[in-house]
Amino acid sequence: MKSCIVLLLPVALLLLAGSSPVVAQLVEGYYSKTCPNVEAIVRDEMEKIIAAAPSLAGPLLRLHFHDCFVRGCDASVLLNSTEGSLAEKDAKPNKSLRGFGSVERVKAKLEAGCPNTVSCADVLTIMARDAVVLAKGPFWPVALGRRDGTVSSATEAADQLPPASGDIPQLTKIFASKGLDLKDLVVLSGAHTLGTAHCPSYADRLYNFSSSYTTDPTLDSEYAEKLRTRCKSVDDKAMLSEMDPGSYKTFDTSYYRHVAKRRGLFQSDASLLTDDTTRDYVQRIATGKFDDEFFGDFSESMIKMGNVAVLTGAKGEIRKKCSIVN
Ligand code: HEM
Ligand SMILES: *[C@@H]1O[C@H](CO)[C@@H](O)[C@H](O)[C@H]1NC(C)=O
Ligand SMILES: *[C@@H]1O[C@H](CO)[C@@H](O)[C@H](O)[C@H]1NC(C)=O
Ligand SMILES: *[C@@H]1O[C@H](CO)[C@@H](O)[C@H](O)[C@H]1NC(C)=O
Repeated sequence: MKSCIVLLLPVALLLLAGSSPVVAQLVEGYYSKTCPNVEAIVRDEMEKIIAAAPSLAGPLLRLHFHDCFVRGCDASVLLNSTEGSLAEKDAKPNKSLRGFGSVERVKAKLEAGCPNTVSCADVLTIMARDAVVLAKGPFWPVALGRRDGTVSSATEAADQLPPASGDIPQLTKIFASKGLDLKDLVVLSGAHTLGTAHCPSYADRLYNFSSSYTTDPTLDSEYAEKLRTRCKSVDDKAMLSEMDPGSYKTFDTSYYRHVAKRRGLFQSDASLLTDDTTRDYVQRIATGKFDDEFFGDFSESMIKMGNVAVLTGAKGEIRKKCSIVN
């Protein structure tokens, strides 16, 4: 019996590794010999960045999400387009990604202290964690050792990032393709407690929902009215709205209270009320009695997301500058 288990265990592990896009070989303290102060250096810069521009916490968190969902967390989101190759950041769903300059600034600090050592993918992962911490959210340990990819494709970004119009089946499918489940979906959507969105991400819910409805009937009508005073038409490209009105610079649970009251900004947020599992979670966290639980769940799901299809060992490279391959 015992030998049977011993024999089968490696097979089971192999099968698991083969079937999952999440192959984690990252470790905490990866740079303990080569750049022991890496996290302190990033934290120090992040404190300056967020002190100068608190609204950058959201964009920096979102950059890490976009990175991990396209080609794995390999800093491909940070690459500039080159002649003949349109990069992820220039794809349609980039919808105004921000924070590139801050990543470059932190990376430059690290290059000064530990040249050619810390990957841009790891820098972005630590920055996303620190962004949450500095916005009064949870801290979680970050395992390191990611390497940087050399390819960034606008087409892949368009295919692999979840659309704001996504419903539960579509979002579930996209998350599952990254090894993330329904719980990760409802938990990570809580990132929308931070930041702002442009009018085109939700304007169709206000003006052009479907052949039967001008306004999305799942959106609270008073709230829709209010949003229409900010986002004036489907062609309004510039106007920004807070996704968690009133506390969009603070990482807290009020996002779930908005969603529970049918005031989620995107259809993807609203869709969390259409499935039993995700609705139960939204309503539970919305009570405000389980903030610690959400913080723990968010930490866990962020660690999972940070492991998606990472490059390790001899794969990829350590970029010198995050916007360009070596
Ligand atoms: C569930 C699927 C998701 C969809 C459909 C989605 C969609 C969007 C859209 C459309 C925007 C607004 C872009 C704009 O108009 O400027 C946005 C913003 C944002 N998203 Fe998501 N998102 C999802 C999941 C996530 C995840 C997993 C994270 C991070 C863990 C995240 C973090 C953010 C943040 C922080 C912002 C605000 C960025 C800023 O202030 O500029 N989102 N998201
Ligand atoms: C990448 O593009 C940005 C914005 O256009 C630019 O500021 C930056 O210098 C570029 N990076 C490199 C290495 O050319
Ligand atoms: C996002 O993509 C559009 C093209 O679809 C481009 O004009 C814009 O500059 C891109 N944004 C960033 C931050 O690269
Ligand atoms: C309204 O929605 C329809 C169907 O999605 C689309 O074809 C049309 O272009 C939209 N109208 C505007 C003004 O965006």
